[in-house]
Amino acid sequence: MKRTRVLIPKGQIEGRISDLAAEIRRDYRGKHPLFLGVLKGSFVFMADLVRVLNMPLEVEFVRLSSYGSGTETSGRVKMAGGLGVDIRGRDVLVVEDIVDTGITLSFLLDYLRNQGPASLKLCALLDKPSRRKVPLRIDYLGFTVENVFIVGYGIDWNEQYRYLADVCCVEEV
Ligand code: IMP
Ligand code: MG
Repeated sequence: MKRTRVLIPKGQIEGRISDLAAEIRRDYRGKHPLFLGVLKGSFVFMADLVRVLNMPLEVEFVRLSSYGSGTETSGRVKMAGGLGVDIRGRDVLVVEDIVDTGITLSFLLDYLRNQGPASLKLCALLDKPSRRKVPLRIDYLGFTVENVFIVGYGIDWNEQYRYLADVCCVEEV
């Protein structure tokens, strides 16, 4: 049987998002950035982040899938439906839930860089540095976590647990 355990309570997430928002607001002052969320896991983080930011910006989402199954990225990443927006000359901030091996994000960032954005940065709620296979710079990071399987706050295990308000881990009991 599976059980979830709270790792980062929602109050702590809120506090960290306020800090990140202050940094982002300062860095993007006078700009009109495009926040590009990676579906589905980033939807809650994106919603909280933009409301705390309360500054002019645009929101777009991209759906990425990696072939293969289970809890591991296969290494072959595909973008479903393409990118619905022209990012040439735009200040793009990619918003992601978790950076794990880094394979998904490095694929996306390479793809976006080729479209000629004015700037390209990465904001991730969680980082699991012990799992990294591809080096990646995270410009705005919420929390570093151990190598555990994360759910909640928009993040799923087989489409389950996205509704949990806290960042949790799944344990076998
Ligand atoms: P990467 O390409 O290995 O960095 O995988 C990144 C993607 O895998 C993330 O965007 C998540 O969607 C998913 N992922 C990685 N670790 C977890 C986890 O602990 N829980 C749920 N999804 C995860
Ligand atoms: Mg993701």
